[in-house]
Amino acid sequence: MNSILKPNGKSNGSQTSSFGVGTRINHDSSKFYNSKIYAGSNNTYFAKDLENPIPQENINKVFCKSSEQMTELPDNSVHLMVTSPPYNVGKDYDKNLSMNEYRDLLTKVFKETYRVLIPGGRVCVNIANLGRKPYLPIHSYVIEDMQKLGFLMRGEVIWNKASSASQSFAWGSWLSATNPTLRDIHEYILIFSKDGFARKKPVARKPTITKEEFMEYTKSIWTFSAERASRIGHPAPFPIELPYRLIQLYTFEDEVILDPFVGSGTTCLAALKTKRRYVAYDNDQKYCELAGKRIEEYLQSQNTLFNQQKDTNNKVIPVYQSS
Ligand SMILES: C[S@@+](CC[C@H](N)C(=O)[O-])C[C@H]1O[C@@H](n2cnc3c(N)ncnc32)[C@H](O)[C@@H]1O
Repeated sequence: MNSILKPNGKSNGSQTSSFGVGTRINHDSSKFYNSKIYAGSNNTYFAKDLENPIPQENINKVFCKSSEQMTELPDNSVHLMVTSPPYNVGKDYDKNLSMNEYRDLLTKVFKETYRVLIPGGRVCVNIANLGRKPYLPIHSYVIEDMQKLGFLMRGEVIWNKASSASQSFAWGSWLSATNPTLRDIHEYILIFSKDGFARKKPVARKPTITKEEFMEYTKSIWTFSAERASRIGHPAPFPIELPYRLIQLYTFEDEVILDPFVGSGTTCLAALKTKRRYVAYDNDQKYCELAGKRIEEYLQSQNTLFNQQKDTNNKVIPVYQSS
């Protein structure tokens, strides 16, 4: 990074240097973004300012159906999507799809997500890679497919599950170079935007992130424990810390968070805890009920006013009412 000196000798910010990076204060990065490696990339800064309301009867709902069609949600209405898709590795809800079929399912859901997301809205996909013979880099397929859909990549977080990662003793060849294998203790959170990177600050909605949280959550490696399946009653729940961090970092109070593969409802709990609203989908009745039960328990523990309604399938769903 080189300082740009004004004629009076005072610094006027900095430019990208050919010898790595240093301070980013008042940094002029136009030389870097005009270089050939960026040719053809969409680097729109401000997204269009466009937002449609979601009908009140569809807010704070878990819809028990496939998220391939989210007809309950208008175009340009959701501020953030956080999800962990089905793994397709033989969990009880998995369908044993081929890699192409699996990518097609995710592409359908994320295309629908693109439709419902506001311009400038963000999408965060928590995903792990699979196998060893060969290793299946699912995260790279998701990145490729999201970019084809038009999403702009913002970055990726390596979630270090550290000592809570399931203990694998699949060393390959023990203490020998014949075939030692890597034992993943991490997952990815892939982060994208629609239309442009920056959102205009909404007039009436406040950020809720603290300075300490902001400094920690903008780092690209996050370390916290995984959630225990047996504690939640779902085969693959993520810990509430994961959607909590993304909601705090990427949305303002009262905004709408979508999880199209919501499982046990963890994203809905994080949305309520941060005073946001949610819309969620799962196509397995027992997980919709589990999500509903966890949400109800949370609301009761908060003494929040809520009532219960029945959806078209006569399933009891919690409805959040702000007091
Ligand atoms: C990895 S789990 C999500 C777990 C969730 N993050 C949690 O904390 O509990 C994926 C979920 O996607 C659901 N699912 C699979 N295919 C679906 C589809 N087409 N539409 C909606 N949900 C689906 C499964 O039933 C499963 O609960």
